[in-house]
Amino acid sequence: MGMNLFKTTAAVAALAIMATGAAQAGEDAKLVINGDLSIATQAAAPAHLENLETVYSGWVFRTKETQALEMDDFDNPSFVFVDVALDLYAAVDGTEGKSCASCHENVEDFAGLTTSMPRVNADGALETTTDLINECRTERMGAKAWKYSGTDMSAMLSLVGLQSRGMPVNVAIDGAAAPYWDKGKELYYTRVGQLDMSCSNCHEDNYNVMIRADHLSQGQSNGFPTYRLKNAKMNTIQARFKGCMKNIRAEPFGQGSDEFKALELYVASRGNGLIVETPSVRN
Ligand code: HEC
Ligand code: HEC
Repeated sequence: MGMNLFKTTAAVAALAIMATGAAQAGEDAKLVINGDLSIATQAAAPAHLENLETVYSGWVFRTKETQALEMDDFDNPSFVFVDVALDLYAAVDGTEGKSCASCHENVEDFAGLTTSMPRVNADGALETTTDLINECRTERMGAKAWKYSGTDMSAMLSLVGLQSRGMPVNVAIDGAAAPYWDKGKELYYTRVGQLDMSCSNCHEDNYNVMIRADHLSQGQSNGFPTYRLKNAKMNTIQARFKGCMKNIRAEPFGQGSDEFKALELYVASRGNGLIVETPSVRN
């Protein structure tokens, strides 16, 4: 225990985390999109979270300028990619001569889906929305699977996720989901990498402090995919996990691996009660 504490302190120092009394979570900032969609950016923590009382959307921790980009769909660069996805949705692809729209006439029918993903399917396997879309492509369209976090997939995930914008996250963690959730939780609290840190060391123990120039959030997933100013594209949740693991100099798990899917479920469950903001904007 003492050893662990020492290691955390050393790693935190190495990353130049500074406690700044000034950097309060902007609990008073209000997220209203297009002047009419009011989105609560905090919620009472779900009962399974032992160390947090309140959960916050990552939006709260961004600068006023970045926050503003998410408040109007004309300013939100994600919508360029939503448009790309609308074209993909209507485009025939694969040996069966079908488009998404051939079978799913209205994309609005996906309303609510993102709030409950990932979920366990009838065969007992944990599936992400990415898996569902690729299943349709390979098994129903005779088309090639899209790259897990590639441009086409992240655009389509943004379009599908947008249909749930404004709805509360509510992933199932019991029953058939329980073993996956346990695995995700274990990964979240396990120290890895040269810096020997866990997700919780940053996103639970140190959220709301500055790490280099970045204001640390709770690492919630309710805004994903998110447009990042840093790389000017849509970023999937698993691509974000990969980036965080690289930052602590750990070997990241693969996109679509059992580990990242379990982590995706667990991270989503930490935000049960937060509101879907997809497609969001981050730095
Ligand atoms: C060394 C500290 C550190 C560790 C450890 C870390 N992250 Fe992060 N993470 C960051 C920083 C910095 C950001 C960008 C600012 C922010 O949103 O917190 C970030 C962002 C995120 C976000 C995006 C949040 C949003 O709203 O855009 C998610 C999700 C996330 N991390 C998950 C994880 C997971 C899961 C792990 C463990 C595998 C992890 N992080 C480990 C530092 C860390
Ligand atoms: C040949 C018909 C067909 C085509 C083409 C097709 N799908 Fe599907 N899709 C289905 C069926 C059938 C299901 C499973 C039953 C359901 O949930 O509607 C499904 C399920 C889904 C689901 C999960 C819905 C849920 O609520 O569980 C998503 C998301 C999805 N499809 C997206 C797509 C996308 C995106 C495309 C184009 C890349 C596509 N589908 C192409 C027939 C199709």
